[in-house]
Parts: sequence; structure tokens; C-alpha cells
Amino acid sequence: LTYQGVSPLLDHYNRPRNVGSLPKSDPNVGTGLVGAPACGDVMKLQIRVDPQTNEIVEVKFKTFGCGSAIASSSYLTEMVKGMNIDEAARIKNTEIAKELCLPPVKLHCSMLAEDAIKSAVKDYQSKSKRAVPTIGEAALASESTAPTTQAVSV
Ligand code: FES
Repeated sequence: LTYQGVSPLLDHYNRPRNVGSLPKSDPNVGTGLVGAPACGDVMKLQIRVDPQTNEIVEVKFKTFGCGSAIASSSYLTEMVKGMNIDEAARIKNTEIAKELCLPPVKLHCSMLAEDAIKSAVKDYQSKSKRAVPTIGEAALASESTAPTTQAVSV
């Protein structure tokens, strides 16, 4: 990522990337709407996912909150674009806080971004019923399409 001669925090705060909304009615869009109880700030993060590859192809956010929360969400949108939804759901707020050099008192602002992407991924999965099957379901599904273990063993 490139920054224009200022700290990443100020750069994302002054020029937030990917501000806006995606249509909630789109089955390939997942929406995460989360709040920080500590301060009352709110973040909405939306992802559009390619259902064939599970890749995040578009991201938008709107944050009603402090500068660190705005910068965290802006940075997050750049991070997750092009990522697989499983990878995106594993993002830790510490990665965001480190990049933006957030002081300890502002860690909860990056936590809001972590919560938002997790919630957006969950919404996408539940909305489109593309939740990862449990092990039992996966086994049943593979039994119907693939040869059984017995058939391939010697
Ligand atoms: Fe609440 Fe930053 S002070 S999110």
C-alpha cells in the first residue's frame, strides 16, 4: 500500500477508500453492522462475493465514529478486496492496529473493523445459504458424488 507522505492513519482518515453502500438485496452481498459499546461508534461494512470462487470482489463501508475507526475501516477494505471469505474472516484487529500504529487506547476502534468483516462474511453465508457444510454434511455430500472408500481401497 502507498501513502502520500503522511502516516497510514492520517492518510486513511483524510482519504478514506471505498466509502459507500452496496444493495442489501443482492444475494452476493454480505452486510456487517456493528457497534462499539465503549463509545457508541457504529460501522457498516459490505462485501460483494463471487459465488464461484468465494473471493471478495467489492467492498464498501460507512463509519460513524472516531478517526481511528474510519481509518481502520478504510484500511480493512483495501486488505480484504481480492481475499477469500475464509481468509477475511480470520483477520485480527491487531494486524490493523499495527499497520495504523494505533495507541492502546484506540485498539477497540480496530476491533470494530474485525467485528464488521466477520459479521459481513457471516451475513453473506447465511443469506445465500452457502455456509460451509459441517463434517457430517460434507461426508454425506461426497458419498453421493464420489466413489466410497470401500470401492477404492485394496
Ligand atoms: Fe470508538 Fe474509536 S473511539 S471506535
